[in-house]
Amino acid sequence: MPVEFTLNGKPTSVDVDPSTPILWTLRDTLGLQGTKFGCGMAMCGACTVHLNGQAIRSCITPISAAEGQKISTIEAQANDKVGKAVEDAWVRHDVAQCGYCQSGQIMSATALLKGNKAPSDADIDAAMTGNICRCGTYARIRAAIHDAAKALA
Ligand code: FES
Ligand code: FES
Repeated sequence: MPVEFTLNGKPTSVDVDPSTPILWTLRDTLGLQGTKFGCGMAMCGACTVHLNGQAIRSCITPISAAEGQKISTIEAQANDKVGKAVEDAWVRHDVAQCGYCQSGQIMSATALLKGNKAPSDADIDAAMTGNICRCGTYARIRAAIHDAAKALA
């Protein structure tokens, strides 16, 4: 049975094993490779996408969980008011180093700002704690989130 859901605003249907992680459905079946594989164990955040607006780890979430739901990925953030503000702030602060973790960081930051228009440092640390950056860009990430919040105010 195909799994049907909305992906980045478009009705989408995939015929895959329902236990397939959303990550691999996006990357291998649908060709959206902005969502990254890091650990495969919900430990790094590289695979973060939004399911109904909530940041989730797509490496451990089966595509069956998306039936009738809405998935949003990094590819759609430029078309979203909050996502665009976050991406613009990322550029202003030159956040990325190697870049591998950054789509997951942006997805977590965008989910945070959709629920909290003026997060404190503690709010940011709590929301972003599961997103690991081996390049250590955490200070720039925090500054960029504050900057995006100001731009959206
Ligand atoms: S790849 Fe999903 S949390 Fe690391
Ligand atoms: S920018 Fe290299 S892992 Fe985060």
